[in-house]
Amino acid sequence: MPSIVVTGTQWGDEGKGKIVDFLAERADVVARYQGGNNAGHTVVVKGEVHKLHLLPSGILYPGCRCVIGNDVVVDPAVLLQELETLTARGFDAAGLRISNRAHVIMPYHRLLDQLEEEGKGDAKLGTTGRGIGPCYQDKVARTGIRFVSLLDDEDFAAELRRNLDFKNLILTRVYGRAPLDFAAIYDEYRGYAARLRPYVTDTSRLLNRELEAGHKVLFEGAQAAMLDLDHGTYPYVTSSHPIAAHAGVGAGVGPRRIDKVIGVVKAYTTRVGAGPFPTELTNALGDAIREAGHEYGTTTGRPRRCGWLDACVLRYARDVSGIDCMALTRLDILDRLPDLKICTGYRCQGQLLDEFPASLKVLGQVEPVYEDLPGWMTDISTARRYEDLPPACRAYVERIAALSGMRAAIVSVGPARDQTIIREPMFD
Ligand code: IMP
Ligand code: MG
Repeated sequence: MPSIVVTGTQWGDEGKGKIVDFLAERADVVARYQGGNNAGHTVVVKGEVHKLHLLPSGILYPGCRCVIGNDVVVDPAVLLQELETLTARGFDAAGLRISNRAHVIMPYHRLLDQLEEEGKGDAKLGTTGRGIGPCYQDKVARTGIRFVSLLDDEDFAAELRRNLDFKNLILTRVYGRAPLDFAAIYDEYRGYAARLRPYVTDTSRLLNRELEAGHKVLFEGAQAAMLDLDHGTYPYVTSSHPIAAHAGVGAGVGPRRIDKVIGVVKAYTTRVGAGPFPTELTNALGDAIREAGHEYGTTTGRPRRCGWLDACVLRYARDVSGIDCMALTRLDILDRLPDLKICTGYRCQGQLLDEFPASLKVLGQVEPVYEDLPGWMTDISTARRYEDLPPACRAYVERIAALSGMRAAIVSVGPARDQTIIREPMFD
């Protein structure tokens, strides 16, 4: 089995970084296919904590080639900073390749992200403020700047000039801000171009040749199904497509190139930023889960909203991402909870819903139907085989699998690489 997509099933922060890092040991290439430095992946290797925002999680293996695909939006300053941090820690990033078709995040994108949010008042989305949305807006408006232009002084000057003329009108006339200076941005970005040039190439071509050669490719999604622009809880979503099918568009390979889809499921639910969250716990129990799981954003440090596992979300994610099996993460965070609940369905005005609501109004009104399960009240972080888990814990896992329709192929009981139980061979 040479190609696998790893994708989130909830609202992000399921532990995709750890799962990708774990699987990357046997991969030849790891490719990211959407999002930008709104993502935050925490990966622990030999006790050392790495926080990655743009670099694919395979970067921590020497010899693993890493691709930043065409639908990733790249803030060059952030990427260079991440590269510097890794090299200072002795990692080698020579195998990194960036798509020449990837779009570049510009200073006006970051500024407009913040100004647009402020302008929304109560309806603000709680974006990460990194310029992700405005950069994708420009891509769709066909005014964005791609790496291929960034590397050509003449093209870059012309495109920056055109963009800045218009953005400065918006900044000054709509928001009453000072205009941005062409020369300063031009010089800054020319510096980035010089440093990133060696990494930029046609990554679709690279990935297709790798796949033809039978090499193992891992496609890494950022964010998750419920934050997908089309399928998530719109408008409280990100501006790209985390779902698995987008690996094809975002990395430039055909749909028949994808052999397997692994959905990463956190053993409970979290959400950072605004938007509906039916199983949210706004009480001491929610706070206890947040503290036990250190549920604070990797990118922004914001406290994450916490709640029970929601099987309605998982069934929906399984459909829209076409998931074959799941990697269940952070099970150990529930070790000290005596009683657990799983949401098995939504009731709305007395009726049990049989589909995931598209309407935010409906989603805001639904009452979760819960099933109670006993906790295991045991430290499971040292379990290395499925049989090592206490019966109540296995029952919880099996119930999630039954309710979601996804086999639990991987169970993670801690952040370290070896705290991972494998129940099905991957890449075979
Ligand atoms: P944006 O992606 O910065 O535009 O933010 C849009 C929404 O997606 C906000 O609610 C963010 O908190 C959320 N979001 C974006 N990236 C992530 C992530 O990696 N994990 C969790 N939430 C995210
Ligand atoms: Mg994260």
